[in-house]
Amino acid sequence: MQLQSKLPHVGLTIFTQMSQLADVHGALNLSQGFPDFDAPEALKEALQRHVQAGHNQYGAMAGVPALREQVASKIARLYRNPVCAEQEITITPGATQALFCAIQTLVRAGDEVIVFDPSYDSYEPAVTLAGGRCVHIALNSVDFSVDWQKFADALTERTRLVIINSPHNPSGAVLQRADLQQLADLIRARDIYLLSDEVYEHLVFDGQSHCSVLAHEELYQRACVVSSFGKTYHVTGWKTGYMVAPPKLTAELRKVHQYVSFCAVTPMQHALADFMQAQPEHVDQLPAFYQRKRDQLCRTLENSRFTYVATASTYFQLLDYRAIRDDLNDVDMAHWLTTEHGVASIPLSVFYQQPPADQYLLRVCFAKREDTLTLAGEKLCVI
Ligand SMILES: Cc1ncc(COP(=O)(O)O)c(C=O)c1O
Repeated sequence: MQLQSKLPHVGLTIFTQMSQLADVHGALNLSQGFPDFDAPEALKEALQRHVQAGHNQYGAMAGVPALREQVASKIARLYRNPVCAEQEITITPGATQALFCAIQTLVRAGDEVIVFDPSYDSYEPAVTLAGGRCVHIALNSVDFSVDWQKFADALTERTRLVIINSPHNPSGAVLQRADLQQLADLIRARDIYLLSDEVYEHLVFDGQSHCSVLAHEELYQRACVVSSFGKTYHVTGWKTGYMVAPPKLTAELRKVHQYVSFCAVTPMQHALADFMQAQPEHVDQLPAFYQRKRDQLCRTLENSRFTYVATASTYFQLLDYRAIRDDLNDVDMAHWLTTEHGVASIPLSVFYQQPPADQYLLRVCFAKREDTLTLAGEKLCVI
């Protein structure tokens, strides 16, 4: 028998590769995006409480109602959109699964899906599995903004879905209200849906605020907005996320979700609901919390040969290494940095279909304890 891969070009993700390399060489792992500090005590206690209380069986398909209510009230408070917990919010096992369900729901064989490079690695395989084709548009290579003319030029009769990601992994660029308006104007007369990956919605710095599609009345009518409790509550391993969409679209999204996983993990949903109710201010404190970490990393790197522009959002910082090794491409540089200098990072080119020729960028994650960031600074400053 011949096994024919449906994803012949997909191998081990770069995140797994770099984490493994970091393990083998005992390097500081600033590659994969997860905190090296623990979740809030109250959240862990809530999980224990719910496990002990017997919340260990399948929950409601769309998610535990108390958690959906908490998400709805957060969305009403922050984005002034009175979404209905019952008909518009679905809890999923991680944002990745929400993205997958949305793509399977919306993309049909032969459809085109516009993605902006550098783009998160889970989008394209999901589009391929749905029988669609990604059309890649490169973001501006200096500030990672969208060229809306390029976007307009890429639209065809086959365009079915646009995937946007703001705050943006890996660059930290954020879409402004004017960007959303341009997008709305360009797709208004077309049969095109929008998938908005907003997993870093609460990690926006320097006093800026996040422009959510949830706050854009017109775009929301054709959108599925995805977020992740993992990023917001320092529990990436809990793999719990959610998708928000108008009722008709939600009904279709749930048809897919119920056969991909049926429901998210029950006790974690209860724990998150308790924590959100008890500490709604947690999300308001996150920008300052992560901005301190960004500033610590950037301050220590002032004495290095890396150059950088402090990131506007997310927990990733891009570092330009051309003053150190412009003879190495970014994949080789990331390997060299891990094996010779003990710091693992992610090369930016892996997020592109066609990486720009003169780009020398690595992504490092600063969701780390103070001592980890100090150590990282020491290692990066002697190169
Ligand atoms: C842009 C983006 N989308 C989605 C995800 C996936 O989130 P989750 O861990 O909740 O599946 C990540 C995780 O790194 C991400 O960076």
